[in-house]
Amino acid sequence: KRPAGAPDKSLARPVTKVGVVGAGLMASQLALLFARRLEVPVVLTDLDRDRLDKGVGYAHGEIDKLLGKGRVSPDRANRLKALITGSLTKDAFNDADFVIEAVFEEMSVKQKVFAELEDHVSPECVLATNTSSLSVTEMASKLKHPERVVGFHFFNPVAVLPLLEIVRGDRTDDAALATAFATGKRLKKSSVLVKDAPAFVVNRVLLRLLAEIVQAVDEGTPIEVAERAAAPLGLPMPPFVLMGLVGPAIALHVNETLHGAFPDRFPLSDNLAKLVASGKSGVYRPDFTLDPEVVEIFAGG
Ligand code: 3HC
Repeated sequence: KRPAGAPDKSLARPVTKVGVVGAGLMASQLALLFARRLEVPVVLTDLDRDRLDKGVGYAHGEIDKLLGKGRVSPDRANRLKALITGSLTKDAFNDADFVIEAVFEEMSVKQKVFAELEDHVSPECVLATNTSSLSVTEMASKLKHPERVVGFHFFNPVAVLPLLEIVRGDRTDDAALATAFATGKRLKKSSVLVKDAPAFVVNRVLLRLLAEIVQAVDEGTPIEVAERAAAPLGLPMPPFVLMGLVGPAIALHVNETLHGAFPDRFPLSDNLAKLVASGKSGVYRPDFTLDPEVVEIFAGG
């Protein structure tokens, strides 16, 4: 059955090569997923050789883990690794049909990336953004071919969570949207078409929840008590663990976008901002004990 709002699938264009802009954790998870499910060459690109090597290394390391678990054969592992490569220049995207960006969550940065991409890819190549909260219409607005831009928003961990939010910008055409849905299907994701609204749907709900629990802690409830109180809500993981998975910096970006759009409902969180400024990756350390310095930030707030 065709997902609600999806155009006729006969309009979808073939995807035989994929580009991923950025080589951070999200980008390398995406490279792995595209290679595994589409079995086509996937090129990661970044400005920095170290980041690029790290991104490709992460994807290759995850393939080794799949091999260790017996999920892929040694032959397939080698094939998948060969499919995922890195390039410091976007020339590698010349023959790509689908390029997804997962760079820093700032409108001007993403607009610049798309503008540069237009010099390298064909006008039919779909340009997808994995933005968590920014407007797809605005991101496409300065392009020669805004009709091929779509939102393609994944959830962490990308390999595990089935949902994909697909976003149609004001100028996105049916062919690009149909290609996005067809690609989502090949990726074995469950795609939903959501409106191009601040933070779309999932992050709007999630950030409201995280903001409320941060506020409860700001108001004096200790972190461990707030987590125990939230446990009966049946979330797949405790809220502050989830914040660590999402990353405090991303949570803050989404919080800021939502604050801009709905200031009454999404107050800015000073403590979230302080947490990001501290450079800490969350309230828990890798061994899942509370980080006393972060507890101090919240207690001081
Ligand atoms: N990366 C890759 N794979 C992972 C992983 C990770 N970080 N964490 C867990 N997995 C895999 C495990 O390897 C395991 O795979 P296997 O069955 O092949 O061995 C499988 O997931 C299940 O893991 P576990 O049995 O260890 O753990 P759980 O059953 O507790 O599930 C979870 C872990 C899937 C992460 C679950 O806790 C969950 O769904 N958490 C909520 C995550 C969530 O809400 N994400 C959305 C965040 S919002 C977002 O990303 C949007 C962005 O814009 C901010």
